[in-house]
Amino acid sequence: MILRSSTAISHPNIAFIKYWGNADPELRLPSNGSISMNLEGLDTITSISKNTDDKSKHNLIINGKTQETSRVSTFLDKAGAMYGFHDTLVIESTNNFPMGAGIASSASAYSALAVALQKFYQLNLSSMELSTLARLGSGSACRSIPSGYVEWFQGNNHQTSYSISIASHDHWELFDCILVVNTGKKKIGSTEGHLRADTSPYQSVRVHDTDRRLEICRRAIINQDFEKFAWIIELDSDMMHAVMMTSNPPITYWQPASLAILQEVRKLRRSGIECAYTMDAGPNVHVICTKDHVKNILDHFEQFPGIHQLLLAKVGMGARSIPGQ
Ligand code: DP6
Repeated sequence: MILRSSTAISHPNIAFIKYWGNADPELRLPSNGSISMNLEGLDTITSISKNTDDKSKHNLIINGKTQETSRVSTFLDKAGAMYGFHDTLVIESTNNFPMGAGIASSASAYSALAVALQKFYQLNLSSMELSTLARLGSGSACRSIPSGYVEWFQGNNHQTSYSISIASHDHWELFDCILVVNTGKKKIGSTEGHLRADTSPYQSVRVHDTDRRLEICRRAIINQDFEKFAWIIELDSDMMHAVMMTSNPPITYWQPASLAILQEVRKLRRSGIECAYTMDAGPNVHVICTKDHVKNILDHFEQFPGIHQLLLAKVGMGARSIPGQ
């Protein structure tokens, strides 16, 4: 059956053990394995169809606006050569979370696109194989394919660098309160940041210690041990930011408000509120908390200085196609 279009939904994810640096930037084989949870409530819906109006190029439309296509074209060329599809496409995508708020959308974008491609071209890939396809577009997209809590194995070639679910989305009801920090500064994107990771003398230390942190984090999730979980995710985030800050040239994503929030989160935890912080390649702080403490966190940070917006997400399912579309 030939489909005229195919639609998929996916979510971004927040990493607890971070991916920073690539062993192979072309294939996005990471320097270390990572663990994350999918963020339901933040949704990307992507539809693809053949570009019958202009067969010479792809047409990318995000939230109704035509976008520049170089990154998606590179992905489609690379993926098409591997999986055997060569059409020029119209890709229409909508995000229900604010663009420009610093929420990485490449993970949900490329995982949704991978699922839409799988259906459109009837690729018949397993979830693991699908995660490798998504990885070619954005490393972290690999982790938005399986459901719930996900581990991405580093691997050493295209086939062995894939993700699996280590616990389902209803295993442990954690929430991510995303505190969007005001910033006028232009940020350095992850793709550029990954290229700098090896210039930091701390990157090799971070990478060599990864298996230990992965094991602690995996166990903490399986056992729902919030104390261990909080300790290891904050350590991992701080280690990645130490690498960023000591790269050449250095990258400092922390803003004064970010640091004030990190300190506040630790203070709240000492007072018995189950919360822990983690930060990606930007000034926003993700406060991970248990269900009973979500309201506390949202109330507490509502009026906190330097916060522009609060977003809430729960543990989400993996990328999936939308039937009939
Ligand atoms: C700090 O997956 O955004 O969020 O592969 O170049 O698209 P590309 O990078 P990306 O990097 C994510 C970096 C991070 C940590 C993480 O999500 O593991």
